[in-house]
Amino acid sequence: MSDLKKIKEEFLSKLNKKLNVSEINQIKTDLFGKNGLVSSQFKKIGTIADSERKKFASDLNIIKDEFQNLINSKINEAEINEINEKLKKEKIDVTLPERNFVRGKIHPVSQTIDEISSIFSEIGFSVEEGPDVENEYNNFTALNTPEHHPARDMHDTFYLDEKKEKLLRTHTSPVQIRTMLKDKPPFKIIAPGRTYRSDSDQTHSPMFHQVEGLHIDKDINMGHLKGYLNYFIKEFFEVNKIKMRFRPSHFPFTEPSAEVDIGYQIKDGKIIIGEGDKWLEILGCGMVHPNVLKNVKVNPEKFQGYAFGIGIDRLAMLKYGINDLRSFFECDYRWLNHFGFDPLDVPTNYRGLSR
Ligand code: PHE
Repeated sequence: MSDLKKIKEEFLSKLNKKLNVSEINQIKTDLFGKNGLVSSQFKKIGTIADSERKKFASDLNIIKDEFQNLINSKINEAEINEINEKLKKEKIDVTLPERNFVRGKIHPVSQTIDEISSIFSEIGFSVEEGPDVENEYNNFTALNTPEHHPARDMHDTFYLDEKKEKLLRTHTSPVQIRTMLKDKPPFKIIAPGRTYRSDSDQTHSPMFHQVEGLHIDKDINMGHLKGYLNYFIKEFFEVNKIKMRFRPSHFPFTEPSAEVDIGYQIKDGKIIIGEGDKWLEILGCGMVHPNVLKNVKVNPEKFQGYAFGIGIDRLAMLKYGINDLRSFFECDYRWLNHFGFDPLDVPTNYRGLSR
């Protein structure tokens, strides 16, 4: 048998098996590689006697073409097989039921902040933010609370350095200062956020939440303050009537100052807002002190207005019947699953805040 015939027979028997793409490629190299069987036959051409050379060369070329065609179609076939197998293995059945994954919930404090922001946005307040780490000037001095003022001790401040220059803000009122320093009046903003005081029991947590309100314009008076707060409380608790009481109080940064209580009662173990003879304090407020306005270069002869600071956690507790403030910050998944809100239900005034 001639060499070519032998090569051809071997080649055909090898290629007849079921092969994958890399096995076929190996056969290809064995034939056409540098020292491959077919390549070395080509090298032989020069040594063949003149009379036979032509026939040998043409036979070799025919075999070469034949091999290449066979190999190519075998590779095609193998590639298609491999893709089909992969598709079969990686098939996704989109009709299968969903896996029982754990769904996230919106924390009642976040929900309450969203509700508050929604109510105030609709009546022209924009939302401002300030940092949790404040300086002593914004938190106290600019707010008419100089050093040695007794109000500083009452705040149980967490100081962050020996010189007592940096601190965790004890209220959201420094955002009043930040807002008025960076813009010109009028101002009509709220500023929700975290606040810190070294205090902890059933109704106090070292980290808690407040929302500040500030409304400065020409001819703003205490009547506006009362009207806006009354509107807010009714909207927030989703009731038509509310019992509110303004008690005279004192804050260094407002004059006059008041604290606001709302009336409630407990019926069948549930809190009912707006009726009854019990009172719960929910916010502090007053007319912004002229000294504060001077500190931020606002002329108190031309502009005045009110400010308020509402305890967000307390509002959330009242509205959603949560009776221990500490549970807000324990990160207990079962608790969040019960009291939390659907992330897709964004509160809006027109669609209902909490439904
Ligand atoms: N910052 C005060 C507090 O934390 C609340 C307050 C804000 C009072 C604005 C008056 C005006 O107690």
